[in-house]
Amino acid sequence: MMSNTLLFYGVSFICVGHLFLLIETCNYPSDLQSAVWEDSQKGSLTYTTNQMTGYTYSSYSSGSSIWNCFLIDGDYVVSKATGTINLFSAQYDVYICQKFTKITSFSYSYYLESDVQSNANNDRLNVFPTGNSVTVSQACAKTMDIPTEEFHVLVKNSNIADVKQWFPTPLLGKFEYTKVTAAGVSSCGSGSVWDDCTNRTTMSINMTQCSSVVAFSQGVTYCVTYITKGSTYYVVVVNPGIADGTTYFRFACLAVSQSGSTVTVVEKSGSCGAGQNTSLAGTGGAKYTMTPYETCPFTTDSPSEPSSDIGLIIGIVVGLLVLLIIGAVVGYCIYKKKKNQIYDREKKENANYLQGSRPPLYSGISS
Ligand SMILES: *[C@@H]1O[C@H](CO)[C@@H](O)[C@H](O)[C@H]1NC(C)=O
Ligand SMILES: *[C@@H]1O[C@H](CO)[C@@H](O)[C@H](O)[C@H]1NC(C)=O
Ligand SMILES: *[C@@H]1O[C@H](CO)[C@@H](O)[C@H](O)[C@H]1NC(C)=O
Repeated sequence: MMSNTLLFYGVSFICVGHLFLLIETCNYPSDLQSAVWEDSQKGSLTYTTNQMTGYTYSSYSSGSSIWNCFLIDGDYVVSKATGTINLFSAQYDVYICQKFTKITSFSYSYYLESDVQSNANNDRLNVFPTGNSVTVSQACAKTMDIPTEEFHVLVKNSNIADVKQWFPTPLLGKFEYTKVTAAGVSSCGSGSVWDDCTNRTTMSINMTQCSSVVAFSQGVTYCVTYITKGSTYYVVVVNPGIADGTTYFRFACLAVSQSGSTVTVVEKSGSCGAGQNTSLAGTGGAKYTMTPYETCPFTTDSPSEPSSDIGLIIGIVVGLLVLLIIGAVVGYCIYKKKKNQIYDREKKENANYLQGSRPPLYSGISS
């Protein structure tokens, strides 16, 4: 009777425990929640605490744009699409795995940690038979490395003006530029000014002499982030103005390289693309040849932390303390040495005494 009761409670406990596991929820990183974000690849995404809408994929006759937070492990965020893919009359669940890097509270960059799926319009995602339990390493599995330049950014729609970062050194200047589109149309030229110097976070372009717009913008964009691969910089800019998706886009990726004082830029709308380079513009893109007539002084690859007075004061205080401590130690050592010399002279008959009482030279380090 007693053991039956215990067994009952034991089983109940296990069941309740299991229930808790089942209803365990996954929430998106708190920065992302309850807001609209602009994605450099997929456009506007709406995040709630545990759902993301707007990230459209399609495969065969299936597809979805609604995803549920599935699991989070460190920087890895795995989402599971609502609905399944029907393949050879079996059902599959679809997962994306994003490896996030925070830039600001309003901007993130990420890599999609999966292989390219030719059956899903070359999206990076993973599928598993419905009902299978899926771990992070499975959802984020890939057989080939992802090209460094193939990253994406998310910018919070309400805070586009708050994400500005410094442009990389090669772009810090006022340039005269010419533009050649992938289709071979040449324009802009002398008198056309590309200015990343007046404000090192803001690209300000006079394109009155161009036959098409620059960086898919109305002439002003902000630096969101950049990475380097070899000697090429991949800079993502966000257009705070109109983005109609045909002439103007919310994001552009600028591949940038420098040779002597000439800077070459190849633009692409949206995210940076695998294989994007500064030799040749891809379809819809353009190549710029830029000659600086003014470079920014104090160029650097990263925004400098504003050195505050408090930092300076702390530095001075710490420096003085260190000097005081060194002084005290040196003073003590001299005193000790003097004292020992007197002591030695007085106690010559006890030559071994001092040696025996001296602490080991490397105390604490076992030999
Ligand atoms: C843009 O360039 C044109 C021609 O070089 C010049 O006339 C115009 O004043 C410039 N506009 C601005 C806003 O600097
Ligand atoms: C440069 O950008 C910062 C940050 O948006 C802004 O506060 C500042 O006024 C800008 N400076 C100029 C010269 O446009
Ligand atoms: C550079 O980019 C162009 C356009 O995308 C591509 O056709 C070309 O193969 C690329 N070159 C290299 C060396 O990757």
